[in-house]
Formats: sequence, C-alpha cells, structure tokens
Amino acid sequence: MTNLFAPSSQEEVARILDVLTFGELEIEGRLVDASNLALLGQLELGDVRTRVIYKPVRGERPLWDFPDGTLADREAAAFVLSAVGGWNLVPPTVLRDGPHGPGSVQLWVDAVEDATATLVNVVKPAELVPGWLPVLEAQLADGTAVVVAHADLPELASVAVFDVVINNADRKGSHLVLDEFGSLWGFDHGVSLHAEPKLRTVLWGWAGKALPEAELARLYALSGWLSTPGSPVSVTLERLLTAAEIDALSQRIAGLLATGRFPGPNSRGPAVPWPPL
Ligand SMILES: Nc1ncnc2c1ncn2[C@@H]1O[C@H](COP(=O)(O)OP(=O)(O)O)[C@@H](O)[C@H]1O
Ligand SMILES: [Mg+2]
Repeated sequence: MTNLFAPSSQEEVARILDVLTFGELEIEGRLVDASNLALLGQLELGDVRTRVIYKPVRGERPLWDFPDGTLADREAAAFVLSAVGGWNLVPPTVLRDGPHGPGSVQLWVDAVEDATATLVNVVKPAELVPGWLPVLEAQLADGTAVVVAHADLPELASVAVFDVVINNADRKGSHLVLDEFGSLWGFDHGVSLHAEPKLRTVLWGWAGKALPEAELARLYALSGWLSTPGSPVSVTLERLLTAAEIDALSQRIAGLLATGRFPGPNSRGPAVPWPPL
C-alpha cells in the first residue's frame, strides 16, 4: 500500500493530523531495525486509509542520557517545531493511544530507494564527489580509509539548522530520505530537545558559515511565537517538554540569531553519530 497523502499544503496537513489522531489503528508488523519498539500500522478514518509508524512509550528502551518515557513526546515536539518553523521536514506526528498504549504515531513516508546516498554517504577519499562537503575522515575495521560527506544542498543546510534548533542527538544519513515527489523527509527525532547540548549529526559541512536569509527569517518568527505566552506553539510544547527544555530551545534559537552562523561541534561528546548512515 502506498500512502494517499503527500502533505504539501496546510489543509492537507490538518486533514492528515485528523486521520492520525482519530483513525482506527491496526498493527501490521514490527520494524526490526528500530532501536525501540516501532510498529508499522494502518489507520482508517472514513474513506481514508494510510500507513503509519507507531512507537509506544512502553516499548522505549531506557537511555542513560534521556529521561525514561519521553521519546514519543520529543518525536511529537519535533514535528510541531518543523511545521511551525516551516521546515516541513518531519512527517505529521501525533501523540495518541494505541493497541500497546500511548505513543507517537507518524505518517509513513514511501522513500525512494537509495536516495539517501544522494544526500549523505561514506566513501573512499578518491570517490568524493566534487561539490560535496567532507565532514569526517575515518578508518573502517578492515583499515580502509573513508570520508563521511554530504551534498551541498540548501534543503540539507535547512535540516542542519533544524537540528541545531531541536538539539538533535542522532542525525544519521539513513534518517534522511526523498519521496517520489523529491521532497526531503527526516525521521527518528526521539533523542532531541534535551536541555543540555547534545547535537550529534552528519551535517557539519556548513559550520561557521553565515545562515541563509530564509533560515534567519523562520528562526526570528519562531522565537516570536515561543516568547508569546499562550501562543499555539507554546501551549503545545508545554504539554510535551519541561520548562527547562523549552527555555533551552529558545536560547538555542537566540544563539543562532545572535551569531547569524551555523555552529561548529562542541567538545562534549562525539559530534558525528556512528555508524553515520
Ligand atoms: N515516518 C516514517 N516513514 C518511513 N520510514 C520511517 C519513518 N519513521 C521511521 N522510519 C524508518 O523505520 C525504521 C525505524 O525507525 P526509527 O525512527 O529509527 O526507530 P527508533 O526510534 O526505534 O530508532 C528506520 O529504518 C527508519 O528509517
Ligand atoms: Mg533509530
């Protein structure tokens, strides 16, 4: 089954959110490559049927660096910020009850096979495509020298900004895909929005560069909404994150606006997830 939706307008997103929230959830199977319990399901509401990924809170593996039972909230908060900020990177996501209890339910995206390699890749140094931005040199277990690199695309630079905003602790290449219309989507935002700096990403290629105007504009707008008590985004985030996490979010945005530049890695931990794809 392919998805009926390619959420391209606000009205369509609103319609999808209705289906995600109120549709009847039926489990189809389990995703074996997930680090937490991630179930593939179908949702039906009226004459609409669509595929989703459902991550029950109960199936979240405890992590040393994130509070227990909060990953689904972070998935939902990442969607809210992606939508309100206009990044439109995270597929529509809601928090709701399901056959295995409350969890996040996210629209399934039919990814074009192998498209990730046109965005992020690990290659031998001699195979680095001109125009790609190298991020990290490494050695595989068998001694082969490789480079982690990504394309120099404005859509990816936009993801890099989004990841700074949500403090994404795990932006791997495989979590970035293209759909058949060429739209870029990002998944797996459960380990984000912590109050402490934890940015870990493959997208460091623009570190120190000036932020594009379009990014500054959305950051400015978002900081306005966040500093307005009672604004829809503030009210929604208050249900999903702690006050300290919301405060840190506002500070990260303020930091980006103050410097006007993409940040570089800090020294607190590995800056690139491994494996990077
Ligand atoms: N909305 C989505 N549409 C399509 N594929 C997805 C979606 N969300 C996750 N996936 C894929 O499902 C698999 C497991 O999801 P992931 O988010 O990594 O789970 P976990 O939270 O357990 O790490 C990954 O291969 C990921 O690329
Ligand atoms: Mg994962």
